[in-house]
Amino acid sequence: CGIVGIIGKENATDILIQGLEKLEYRGYDSAGIFVTGKDKQDHLVKSLGRIADLQTKIGPEVQGTVGIGHTRWATHGKPSERNAHPHTSSNHQFILVHNGVIENFEEIKQEFLQNKQLEGETDTEIAVHLIEHFAQNGLTTKEAMKKALTVIEGSYAFALIDKNNPDTIFVAKNKSPLLIGLGDQFNVICSDAMAMLAETNHFVEIADGEMVTVQADKIEIEDTKGNLVYRESYEAQLDLSDIEKGTYPYYMLKEIDEQPTVMRRIIQEYTDAIGDTMIDEKIVKKIIASDRIYVVACGTSYNAGWVGKALLEKMTNIPVEVHLSSEFGYNMPLLSEKPFFIFLSQSGETADSRQVLVQLNELGLPSLTLTNVAGSTLSREADYTLLLHAGPEIAVASTKAYTAQIAVLAVLAKAVGDSKKNQSSLKFDLAHELSVIAAVMETIIDEKMSISQLVEEYLSTTRNAFYIGRGVDYFVSMEASLKLKEISYIQAEGFAAGELKHGTIALIEEGTPVLGVITDRKTAAHTRGNLKEVESRGAHNFVISLGSLSKETDQLIIPDVHPLLTPLVSIIPTQLIAYFATLQRGYDVDKPRNLAKSVTVE
Ligand code: G6P
Repeated sequence: CGIVGIIGKENATDILIQGLEKLEYRGYDSAGIFVTGKDKQDHLVKSLGRIADLQTKIGPEVQGTVGIGHTRWATHGKPSERNAHPHTSSNHQFILVHNGVIENFEEIKQEFLQNKQLEGETDTEIAVHLIEHFAQNGLTTKEAMKKALTVIEGSYAFALIDKNNPDTIFVAKNKSPLLIGLGDQFNVICSDAMAMLAETNHFVEIADGEMVTVQADKIEIEDTKGNLVYRESYEAQLDLSDIEKGTYPYYMLKEIDEQPTVMRRIIQEYTDAIGDTMIDEKIVKKIIASDRIYVVACGTSYNAGWVGKALLEKMTNIPVEVHLSSEFGYNMPLLSEKPFFIFLSQSGETADSRQVLVQLNELGLPSLTLTNVAGSTLSREADYTLLLHAGPEIAVASTKAYTAQIAVLAVLAKAVGDSKKNQSSLKFDLAHELSVIAAVMETIIDEKMSISQLVEEYLSTTRNAFYIGRGVDYFVSMEASLKLKEISYIQAEGFAAGELKHGTIALIEEGTPVLGVITDRKTAAHTRGNLKEVESRGAHNFVISLGSLSKETDQLIIPDVHPLLTPLVSIIPTQLIAYFATLQRGYDVDKPRNLAKSVTVE
C-alpha cells in the first residue's frame, strides 16, 4: 500500500492525486483521499480500482489545504470501496490511512470496541476506532494515538487527521516505510520519496516506534519514551525525469531498454580505469572470513540469487545457499560457523526479507544488502549496502533490477575472488565482459519485432507454457517463467530440463509451448535431448540459444558472451516475450492483477 499526505498548500487534492499515481506500484486495488482545511469543507472520496478511477469521482469542489491519501494492496478484506482507505471513526472526527498489518486486531475488537459498529473488514478500521475510543475517554488526539500505538501490534505507517483541528497530521511508523518531506511553509508525507519529488527533494526518515506531528511550518518527532528527536533531512538523489515514462507506452519496455545503460553505469560505479573492482574492502574481508554465504530474497530477486550463487561459488570458492525470505525466517536452516548474509531486494523494503534481517541482527550476524534504493530499510539495517544503480524501477514486473543484481553480484564475486587470488577470478576481465554484455543486450533489444512475431506464433492462445534449461539456464528459466506468468497470466513453469521427465512431462499435450534456454556448452546436448522428448509428445518447441551452440532450426540466437555472464543476455528475450504476450492478450503490462511491486507485509 502507499500513503501520501500534505499540509499547508492550497492545491492539496492535486498533490495527493499526483503522489498516489507515483505510488501505484505499491498496490492499486482501491484508493481514496480525504481533504479539508481551516474553514473548508471536508471531502472523503474513495474508489475501487486505480487512481484514474478515483480521479473520475473527484469534482472541482474537492479542495483543501490538508489531506491524506492511500492506494491499497488488499490484505485484510477484499478490494472494495468500503474497504478502501481513508477510514473514519464512528463520530467522523478522525480519518486514518494505514500501510501494514495489525496482527492483534481481533483482540483489540474484543477488548475495546465491543460497542462499536464497524463497517468494513479491514484491520485499519480497528485502529481509527481505537483512537476514537481513547479520545472519548478524555485524551487529546495525540495522546489517544500514542495510547493506541501501545496496544497495536504489527506493522504500520499511519497518518491521521482530526477534523476538529485540521492543522496537524499525526504520523506513526513501525516496520512500514514512511518519510516526511520538507517544504517552505508546507510539509508532506509519503511511503516513498518518488511520490513527492514534484514538491520537495528534502526528506526526513522516521525510525520504527516514532510518532511525528506534521504541521505546515514544523514537524516534531518523538521516540517511544516521548523524547523529542532531532534528525537532519537528506536530499533525495532522484530526478523527476527518472520516474516519467517519456515516449514509452509502458514502464516495463522503458526499463528493458535501459538495461545496457545500467550495465555501463555499474562498470563505471564499481570498476576503475584499469578494470579493477571498487568494492568496500570491509565487505570483501568479511566475506573472505566467512565459511558460507546465504543469499536471502523474494520473487525476482530470489531468482537473481541463484545466478549469483553460480558466480560467487565459481569465483570465490565459498559455498553459497539461496533461500526464500518467507521460508528462511520461520524455518531457519542450521547455519555454518561463520555465515555471511546477502539480502537481495530491489526496493529494500520487502517485509519478508526484513523479518529475516531483524532476526540476524539480533544474533549479531554480518549482512550486506544489494538494493536499488539508497536509504531503504534493508539498506539501513544491514551492516553494508551495495547499490544497484539501475534507476527507479516502476513496472511491477522487475527487469533491470534483475540484471543489475546479477551484474553487481558478479562485481562482488570478482572483488572477493581477486582478493583470494582465485585463478578463474583473476583471469576474468569483468569490466570488459560487462561492456560486451551491454552491446549484446542492445542487439537483442533491437529484435523486438521478431520476438513479437514469435510470441504470436507460440504463445497467443496457450493456457500454459514451460521454460526449461540446465544450470544457469535453469535459473534463467525460473525468472523467465515468473515474468511470463505474472503479467500475461499464462501458467508458466521454469523447470530443470532433466527433471521434466520425472513427473511434470505428464502436462505436455499437443501444442504445449516448451521454451528451451541453451547457453551452456556442457549441458546443451542434454537439454536438446529433453526438448526432443517433449516434442515427440506434442510440445511446440521454441529454442533460445547462444550463437556458438545454435542449430539452424533455433528461433532466437544470442551473440556469444562470457560463459559466466550468459544469464544477463539470455533473460532479455524472455522479458520481451512476457511483454508481448501480455500486450497481445490485452492486459496491463505495468500493473498486473493481484500484485504490488513492493510488498511491505509478511
Ligand atoms: C514483489 C514484486 C516482485 C519482487 C518481489 C521482491 O512481490 O511483485 O516483482 O521480485 O516483491 O521485491 P524486492 O523489492 O525485495 O526485490
